[in-house]
Amino acid sequence: MANLAVEQRKRVTVLFSGRGSNMETLIKASLADDYPAIITHAITNRPNAGGIEIAKNYNVETSIFDHKAFDSREAHEEVLRAELERQNPDIIVLAGYMRIFNESFVKHFPGKMLNIHPSLLPKFKGVDTHNRAIEAGEKTHGCSVHFVDASLDGGPIVAQASVPVKQDDTADTLSDRVLVQEHLLYPKALELVASEMVTHQNGEIKVSPEFDKTSTNFIIAP
Ligand code: GAR
Repeated sequence: MANLAVEQRKRVTVLFSGRGSNMETLIKASLADDYPAIITHAITNRPNAGGIEIAKNYNVETSIFDHKAFDSREAHEEVLRAELERQNPDIIVLAGYMRIFNESFVKHFPGKMLNIHPSLLPKFKGVDTHNRAIEAGEKTHGCSVHFVDASLDGGPIVAQASVPVKQDDTADTLSDRVLVQEHLLYPKALELVASEMVTHQNGEIKVSPEFDKTSTNFIIAP
């Protein structure tokens, strides 16, 4: 792909709560001159999140809004929303952001928010996905990137990656295998959304006829 000027690239804010490995892969991908998005800001709700150091290492402006310092979810979201409005990103990327938003917050940023979830949605929404996949006897597991709507881990799916579940898997070994795919899937999914090859209109995903779905091993807009 051709080099893109900064003004041609979508501005992205990443929200994270923990170690920030997905955020790091997105920042790294965005260092390429032809990547259609640029990570301008990072925000966390946890003052001790490992990802803070990562964002700083890449000189990504980082803000901390500790949810425990607020009286209510609404009060925390109010401050987060004001900061996001100030930053005015084209896309908000949730990368291990472990907070559920009120509907009013999500509605504020229609079609702008992406999330990665460690399961083949709609299977295993919520937490502890790897254990649940093993206990359910799944032969295949994986991860999904989706637009965020007001439901838990809901919203139209942009792309998925699958991995086999092995007979001797523990939640940790399966999680490690899925994480490798997360790190490949999220940069690709963000690229597709930022380049408008995949768009979200009225709750429906549209894939541009210019994009060849067979050009990737990922499952696009299933
Ligand atoms: C990732 O596995 C991500 O899929 C998951 O949190 C982890 C964050 O890791 N997200 C969710 O479970 C959201 N429902 P990271 O901080 O190293 O990117």
